[in-house]
Amino acid sequence: MRQDLWLLAALYIGGAVNAAVESNYTEAILSSGTIKLGDWQDAYDKATAFVNSLSTSDKLSIITGGTVNNVTINKLDSSSNPINYYFVTAWPAPLSIAMTWDKDFIIEQGQALGAEFKGKGVNVGYGPTVQPLGRSPWGKRGAETYGPDSYFSGIMSGGLVEGMNKAGCISGAKHFILNEHETNRQGSSGASPSCQQHYFDFSSSEAYSVSIDDKAFHETYLAPFYDTIKAGVGAVMCSMNRINGTYGCENQETLSKHLKAKLGFIGFVSPDAGGQKTGIGSATAGLDYGSSTYWSNTTLGAGISNGSFTEARLNDMVIRNLMGYFKHSQDESYPSHAGYTDNVDVRANHASLARKYAQNSIALLKNTNKTLPLTKSQKVISIFGTHAAPRVVGPNTALTVQSGVASTMDGHMSQIGGSAMSSATYLITPFQAFNERAHKDGFMLKWWLNNTIVSSSGGMVISDGAGTEISETTTGIAENSDACIVFINAWSGEGGDRDELANAGQDTLVNTVADTCNNTIVVVNTVDPRLLAQWDSHENVTAILYGGPLGQESGYAINDALFGDVNPSGNLVHTIAKNESDYDANVQICEDLQLNFTEGNFIDYKYFDQQNKTPAYAFGFGMSYTTFSYGTYLSISSAASNLTNEYASGSLAVGGREDLWDIVATASSAITNTGSLAGAEVAQLYVEFPAAAEEPVRQLRGFAKVDLQPGETKTAAFELRRRDLSVWDTGAQEWKVERGQYISASLTV
Ligand SMILES: *[C@@H]1O[C@H](CO)[C@@H](O)[C@H](O)[C@H]1NC(C)=O
Ligand SMILES: *[C@@H]1O[C@H](CO)[C@@H](O)[C@H](O)[C@H]1NC(C)=O
Ligand SMILES: *[C@@H]1O[C@H](CO)[C@@H](O)[C@H](O)[C@H]1NC(C)=O
Ligand SMILES: *[C@@H]1O[C@H](CO)[C@@H](O)[C@H](O)[C@H]1NC(C)=O
Ligand SMILES: *[C@@H]1O[C@H](CO)[C@@H](O)[C@H](O)[C@H]1NC(C)=O
Ligand SMILES: *[C@@H]1O[C@H](CO)[C@@H](O)[C@H](O)[C@H]1NC(C)=O
Ligand SMILES: *[C@@H]1O[C@H](CO)[C@@H](O)[C@H](O)[C@H]1NC(C)=O
Ligand SMILES: *[C@@H]1O[C@H](CO)[C@@H](O)[C@H](O)[C@H]1NC(C)=O
Ligand SMILES: *[C@@H]1O[C@H](CO)[C@@H](O)[C@H](O)[C@H]1NC(C)=O
Ligand SMILES: *[C@@H]1O[C@H](CO)[C@@H](O)[C@H](O)[C@H]1NC(C)=O
Ligand SMILES: *[C@@H]1O[C@H](CO)[C@@H](O)[C@H](O)[C@H]1NC(C)=O
Ligand SMILES: *[C@@H]1O[C@H](CO)[C@@H](O)[C@H](O)[C@H]1NC(C)=O
Repeated sequence: MRQDLWLLAALYIGGAVNAAVESNYTEAILSSGTIKLGDWQDAYDKATAFVNSLSTSDKLSIITGGTVNNVTINKLDSSSNPINYYFVTAWPAPLSIAMTWDKDFIIEQGQALGAEFKGKGVNVGYGPTVQPLGRSPWGKRGAETYGPDSYFSGIMSGGLVEGMNKAGCISGAKHFILNEHETNRQGSSGASPSCQQHYFDFSSSEAYSVSIDDKAFHETYLAPFYDTIKAGVGAVMCSMNRINGTYGCENQETLSKHLKAKLGFIGFVSPDAGGQKTGIGSATAGLDYGSSTYWSNTTLGAGISNGSFTEARLNDMVIRNLMGYFKHSQDESYPSHAGYTDNVDVRANHASLARKYAQNSIALLKNTNKTLPLTKSQKVISIFGTHAAPRVVGPNTALTVQSGVASTMDGHMSQIGGSAMSSATYLITPFQAFNERAHKDGFMLKWWLNNTIVSSSGGMVISDGAGTEISETTTGIAENSDACIVFINAWSGEGGDRDELANAGQDTLVNTVADTCNNTIVVVNTVDPRLLAQWDSHENVTAILYGGPLGQESGYAINDALFGDVNPSGNLVHTIAKNESDYDANVQICEDLQLNFTEGNFIDYKYFDQQNKTPAYAFGFGMSYTTFSYGTYLSISSAASNLTNEYASGSLAVGGREDLWDIVATASSAITNTGSLAGAEVAQLYVEFPAAAEEPVRQLRGFAKVDLQPGETKTAAFELRRRDLSVWDTGAQEWKVERGQYISASLTV
């Protein structure tokens, strides 16, 4: 449904636009007083007192990871778990947490994750991964992030920061900025531009450089970082790529001007691996933590002596390194740092949380004639595919894809690779969960745990050990089953980009089973968009469950959804196209070293809307075993007193101008569970801006997950902040609310 949201009739026009940030960026130095510190003031005072007691060599030690007066800041990846550490929880991947669309869950998970970092004595946990945002469906780190919508990514990333802070752990957001894919992120092989090779290498040539217009830079890529900073992120990791020709960790424009002076980031900037390239250059640009190879008395110290560097900036670097430490009172008490194989068990009750998030993240995309949930009337159930069963080695194994890897995993795919890979102590596979339920419920379980199809004409010959040969076929298993469940996956991780968005072998497996079994249910676990068009309209494919990597409880979560122990309530956070060619050709990943993000704000569903293309499954889509209805009217109340100025004009504070966070309107809608099962609906508010704003057709600006008993009605309320209705005015260099009519479209499914 679509309704007029409101008319912003009484906008004040004119007014002073605040002076632009000065070109030497001394404003980025905290002692300049440019940024209102708010509840960080006390931490700043303590850090300042501490730095005043230090010699230059002590200061250099702090900014290069040394210990001074017992202060050491230990840092570790990621938002999946404290990487490599033993006896931690292997959480559902961020993509899966995102698919819950649940703001309470992300805060709760952040707090539990933060407690695990803290329990291990790690001061800074590098989560959230805000970007890669997901500009390209071929990018490989999608499962590490919260999806390609900037508003949604901001809310979820901010939630994780809030939760980690509650635990007393410093959170670190990454990667700043425009690091949208892996190919050539650190250097290129020098190969001629090709779109076939999708792995980075470490050769000495330069990394790719990104150019983007100023409006999209602010609205799509800077926007989610505002949320993390406002929520209190203590560290930001700069990226390996170049921006406008300058490396992410050497870039004064992005680090000092945007991140620090305009977004009001008061913590420290640290480099992604290999991101630092120079000594005085990186320190002047805005890097605060780095390597003693570049930062020593012969570089920074000599620079202070000859005037090419300043003591004020060195002090600022030290203070920034300690802001989170003092903010979270880590100076007062903090567990000692455990070695990664130490037996310190920090898992507490987190297995049940991991299972809950996984259960609530799975999206039901198809359910013909209510074939799901499975019931006791299904006496014979068969399961298919390597994805149903464990990998040969596991669960806590190094999973890196840096030098090439298959685009599917041979075994159950429950996690991501690279710097967000899981440290699982165990893994519940679908095979295990089905066996347990067959044992309990009394159905017969058959399995074919291989993607290779053996046809009836040439059965797999298996010796029974008694000299007799018996013949098994894929179709033989599928025949006479009351339900056939096919498990498929798409795999990737840090290090390389995707070669395919669907896998022919797995698609053939689905079609082969469906040709034989009239109740074929497909379970997909994927790291990024996975196309389903090769079989989703097959008349015998009766249901589809679609999820991200689900973590250590994966098999239980899937089983719980299939049998209705939980009612699926996950929704997509990316668009699934009907055909690979429906995605924007401009975001395809090639070997180029100069990347032009000419599509600007129009990524994912914003591109499909702009091109008037119908996706197979839209961003935000997900079904339930029950049904919901929305009230006819969306009720709107605007806060005119918070909209007297069209430009943001508040003081610069942590998270940017203070008035960007003012509530300017509230919208609400009634939602009723019209079915016979309890369930949860994700209400989503999309806003259409006035034409003058030059914005995508519609943009997500609110969402709420509402749990409802059968027949129950609740109200979903959406608070719109000034920044949710602001666009970046490139002339004024300020956030602006365009005068005009804003239309809302509340999505119902
Ligand atoms: C640079 O910093 C100094 C000291 O804070 C300040 O006086 C000056 O106005 C700034 N801007 C320029 C462009 O030099
Ligand atoms: C460092 O820690 C030790 C042992 O806890 C303590 O005795 C000492 O006073 C501390 N030193 C400083 C400078 O805090
Ligand atoms: C890149 O350079 C262009 C041209 O100078 C400028 O308009 C743009 O804002 C710069 N972008 C970033 C992210 O620095
Ligand atoms: C550090 O460098 C400065 C300037 O070059 C020099 O005066 C000082 O002696 C050096 N300090 C140490 C500890 O090497
Ligand atoms: C100052 O010292 C730095 C670090 O040794 C050096 O790179 C730079 O060239 C020097 N500048 C001058 C003007 O001597
Ligand atoms: C679904 O139900 C309709 C109506 O009962 C029936 O015609 C159709 O064959 C069913 N489809 C499947 C796949 O069972
Ligand atoms: C699947 O079957 C093929 C053909 O028999 C075999 O080569 C392959 O090793 C099997 N894969 C697994 C994971 O068992
Ligand atoms: C659906 O399954 C039945 C077996 O129950 C089979 O006869 C039929 O051919 C299948 N339909 C398709 C389109 O393959
Ligand atoms: C599937 O096929 C079986 C026979 O193999 C039949 O009893 C059942 O009704 C069919 N189900 C559907 C939904 O067509
Ligand atoms: C996708 O589009 C290409 C060309 O646009 C076409 O050749 C191919 O058959 C399409 N695939 C599907 C599954 O529709
Ligand atoms: C990006 O733009 C630059 C300058 O216009 C051009 O040289 C380059 O080829 C473009 N890159 C791609 C991948 O189109
Ligand atoms: C204006 O925004 C502030 C800050 O969010 C909020 O406290 C206040 O309630 C808003 N005013 C109105 C009228 O909604």
